[in-house]
Amino acid sequence: MSKRPRVDPSSFASAPKRQYGAGGGYGGQQGCSEERSSARRVADHYSARSNQTLQERESSPIIHLKKLNNWIKSVLIQLYARPGHCVLDLACGKGGDLIKWDKANVGYYVGVDIAEGSARLDEYLYEDAPFDICSCQFALHYSWSTEARARQALANVSALLRPGGIFIGTMPDANVIIKRLRESEGLEFGNSVYWISFGEEYAEKKFPASRPFGTKYKFHLEDAVDCPEWVVPFHLFKLLAEEYDLELVLMKNFHEFVHEYLQKPEFTELIRRLGALGDGRQDQSTLSQDEWEVSYLYLAFVLRKQGQPSTQPIANNANKGKMFLTEGDIEFLGM
Ligand SMILES: C[S@@+](CC[C@H](N)C(=O)[O-])C[C@H]1O[C@@H](n2cnc3c(N)ncnc32)[C@H](O)[C@@H]1O
Repeated sequence: MSKRPRVDPSSFASAPKRQYGAGGGYGGQQGCSEERSSARRVADHYSARSNQTLQERESSPIIHLKKLNNWIKSVLIQLYARPGHCVLDLACGKGGDLIKWDKANVGYYVGVDIAEGSARLDEYLYEDAPFDICSCQFALHYSWSTEARARQALANVSALLRPGGIFIGTMPDANVIIKRLRESEGLEFGNSVYWISFGEEYAEKKFPASRPFGTKYKFHLEDAVDCPEWVVPFHLFKLLAEEYDLELVLMKNFHEFVHEYLQKPEFTELIRRLGALGDGRQDQSTLSQDEWEVSYLYLAFVLRKQGQPSTQPIANNANKGKMFLTEGDIEFLGM
């Protein structure tokens, strides 16, 4: 883990948007019932989280980490989104990234969350596809419970992206998690804001390459996450993505990401505005060491869908209306 960066260092979006409702089940999926109930726990956990007031948010023990995560997502979006782009936000949560997409002047936004496991998202979203850019922030690891789910998630992304389209995301860094586990005395490790716990079946701390899916651990992050997650070995993620015509462009642990992009003046200014490391003036508050350790557990990735991008100008979807689907229109993501 590298040192904390020492840099001294917004209203709703106006892009037309379509958001599919949360609350769907995970039934009808191959796999055992235990795996289904873990997936259900993930769904229930996120569905149950209530909206916080600004005051509650600011008093969160991980407020600076949340701001840092927002900065990382904003940097990814600014690096890859272009005006007029058609955006698919998979596992969009409550739409917290909309303003970031709006700032990038995208033309059209579709957000999807909580889904049945095996369904064909490409069939449901055929009217909206192809997308120029797909984003899956802090969620792809929930698809790694079985090979079928992982494949379906990647198949969905690939089918919905145009040739040359970009897939950006963030997820836990398996290398760091396994390293931390091996360094710890038992099967649990953490600090004042998080803990991760592996089951007794991993007592030897061995993770054979022959069983790369379904490696479950419990993750607790104060004021944010408390549910099962699955290890995503990145080398396998890369290989599997290639099978779906998605080529790796970038992969960086968050610490490396922060150190690299904080060198760029436009992103330094952005982190000041977001307040992750204080505002460089009166606000001297900054990420705690424990929050900075949590950020080391994550990585950012960028993949590109193979094929030649169209030479046509980007379609202007800006005249498309806002569309929100209700809970009755529960949709499927394959995660
Ligand atoms: C940590 S939150 C991230 C939300 C949002 N992307 C963000 O960055 O703020 C993880 C999200 O993944 C969603 N999720 C988990 N499993 C899912 C699935 N199978 N299909 C769709 N969404 C899922 C949850 O409902 C939750 O909103």
